[in-house]
Amino acid sequence: MVKPSIFVTRRLPRHVEHQLGALFDPQFNEDDNLPSPEALLRGAQNADGLLVTITDRLDANLISALPERTRIIATFSVGYDHIDIAAANARGIAVTNTPGVLTDATAEIAMLLLLGAARKATDGARLIRENRWGAWAPTGMLGTQLTGKKLGIYGMGEIGRAVAARARPFGMEIHYHNRNQLPAALEAGAHYHAELESLLRHCDMLSVNCASTPQTRGSLDADRLALMKPGAILINTARGDILDEAAVLDALSNGRLGAIGLDVYANEPDIDPRFRTLPNSFLLPHLGSATYETRDAMGFCAIANLQAFFSGKTPPNRVR
Ligand code: DGY
Repeated sequence: MVKPSIFVTRRLPRHVEHQLGALFDPQFNEDDNLPSPEALLRGAQNADGLLVTITDRLDANLISALPERTRIIATFSVGYDHIDIAAANARGIAVTNTPGVLTDATAEIAMLLLLGAARKATDGARLIRENRWGAWAPTGMLGTQLTGKKLGIYGMGEIGRAVAARARPFGMEIHYHNRNQLPAALEAGAHYHAELESLLRHCDMLSVNCASTPQTRGSLDADRLALMKPGAILINTARGDILDEAAVLDALSNGRLGAIGLDVYANEPDIDPRFRTLPNSFLLPHLGSATYETRDAMGFCAIANLQAFFSGKTPPNRVR
């Protein structure tokens, strides 16, 4: 039987590529360069399916130019804001993602951001690296303790709940905003705020964990940030465009925000250069899912989606 041909836009973990080779006829991107839209279309010419990542932008134009034979786009990510789902649906192209498998890794990075931002990790690490550490000082490098603080979670899906589960043992009180209140078993004692504004007023620290959608994009704007307690800490492991970054930069400069911890940015990797010089910021380059375990699991999840699709079944993680 002829194996379906898959254009794989980026290098993937070794075991994942090996498995792809066993099950499909993959076309790999040996150099791991970022394919331009033209290169992506060229790669798709002989492909029954595409295995893409968040660095590929599959907008309506690109999707309309895909060849007839391309019937599935499997993204190696839980987020699918880089794919125009309506355009894919209109062309009858299935889209799948990899939910669930990166929950723990992302929640771990959220805790790292929270601690890093609250405890001045950037400044502390810099003192060591630049050999500028003077004497220990009773008043030096003071940060904010997590114990007893209210952590607001914007988006209490799987990842939001995994962040809550890790923050509770730090002695944090959990508050959240979601479109819908969760059943008590999933809330696990967290306080629900039907309005985002109410969450912002209440929390000392805010973790952004919602998906980027037309409703959430730009939702943390200047007006909403102004509702936060002075000196509040904001972290984001979801998507950069949920924040109005200019407003965040202003809020940090004028002290409305005490510190920020970011793993995601609106324009990756060409982030707003002002982020680089900010005090009170702990910044990472989109490392949320970057563990060996999780990247393997994401790859095997994408493969399971492709396998199901090409054997005539509904893929387990089809995006609608
Ligand atoms: C995803 O899968 O959407 C993540 O952002 C990748 O880390």
